[in-house]
Amino acid sequence: MTQAAVKPAGRLLVVGGGYTGRRFALAAASLGFTALLTSRQPKPPEELAALPAEFGWLPFDSQAPRLPEPGDLAGVSHVLVSAPPDGGPGDPSLRCLAPLLADLPLAWVGYLSTTGVYGCTGGAWVDETAPPRPRAGRSQARLEAEEAWRASGLPVQILRLPAIYGPGRSPFAGLRSGRSRLIHKPGQVFSRVHVDDIVGALLHCLTLPAELRPPVLNVCDDYPCPSSEILGYASHLLNLKLPAVERYDAIAADLSPMARSFWAENRRATNRLLCAGLGYRLRYPSYREGLRACLREEEGLP
Ligand SMILES: NC(=O)c1ccc[n+]([C@@H]2O[C@H](COP(=O)([O-])OP(=O)(O)OC[C@H]3O[C@@H](n4cnc5c(N)ncnc54)[C@H](OP(=O)(O)O)[C@@H]3O)[C@@H](O)[C@H]2O)c1
Repeated sequence: MTQAAVKPAGRLLVVGGGYTGRRFALAAASLGFTALLTSRQPKPPEELAALPAEFGWLPFDSQAPRLPEPGDLAGVSHVLVSAPPDGGPGDPSLRCLAPLLADLPLAWVGYLSTTGVYGCTGGAWVDETAPPRPRAGRSQARLEAEEAWRASGLPVQILRLPAIYGPGRSPFAGLRSGRSRLIHKPGQVFSRVHVDDIVGALLHCLTLPAELRPPVLNVCDDYPCPSSEILGYASHLLNLKLPAVERYDAIAADLSPMARSFWAENRRATNRLLCAGLGYRLRYPSYREGLRACLREEEGLP
């Protein structure tokens, strides 16, 4: 059979072709999906330039608003929503795209959310059965966006993500440039996930029969820990000195409101449902394997 005669696994639309969306589209394409990515940028970045012509780049800006043409989405079978909410009611991507999506034969819609919807647990573990207790503001808006997608009548699966890291989003550049800060807040931990485990978990969900896909799923690694531990290991890998430790209480007032809201929540998100329940095997169970892989990729090593 010639390459052209191979039936694609499906046609994927990534709403928000940013860091995670692009990495997912590339992985899905290697499994036989054709992919469309939306962006507010007129042209795709270089990393997508070498892809086949059916890997499309569509204009979409929920604020402008600027929408794809209905014909652009013909044949889309799977959708990943990777654009954030805007603080308004519901979700801006859904408000704009619902009429276009309603006409498509969709098998799956993944919505990338955050574990921020759980609120602060004082460092305790939290799973998908916990009632969300988001702080007012961004996390509350995120929960409302989740709820809007779940009420849309589409085959939606909500993926709740902690801090995302990966090649190009690692502590190495900050350490090399001397911009990193080693901040310590007693008892504070963060959950995180390597971008390729988001991609792997999404692809794993796609292979499951629809009735086995949980409507809400945490996608995170096994090892929540203080951010100082990550920086310590990253500086060890680079053989660089760590910056001086700063006590959180002493510097909190100087941090941006965004950074303060990040430090205000202490939570360990569990991946038990993803790994023990659905049988997904993490590529990077902790930051140790993950950071080593980031460094290899950032340095162009195999
Ligand atoms: N980064 C984290 O640590 C983290 C943690 C938990 C959850 N999340 C959430 O997970 C998702 C993916 O994260 P990411 O870091 O991969 O995101 P990202 O790189 O920032 O990509 C976001 C994408 O959304 C698009 N977008 C933003 N505003 C838009 C608008 N008004 N209209 C249309 N498109 C819009 C961006 O378009 P352009 O291409 O034009 O920029 C971009 O393609 C996001 O929803 C994020 O909030 C992130």
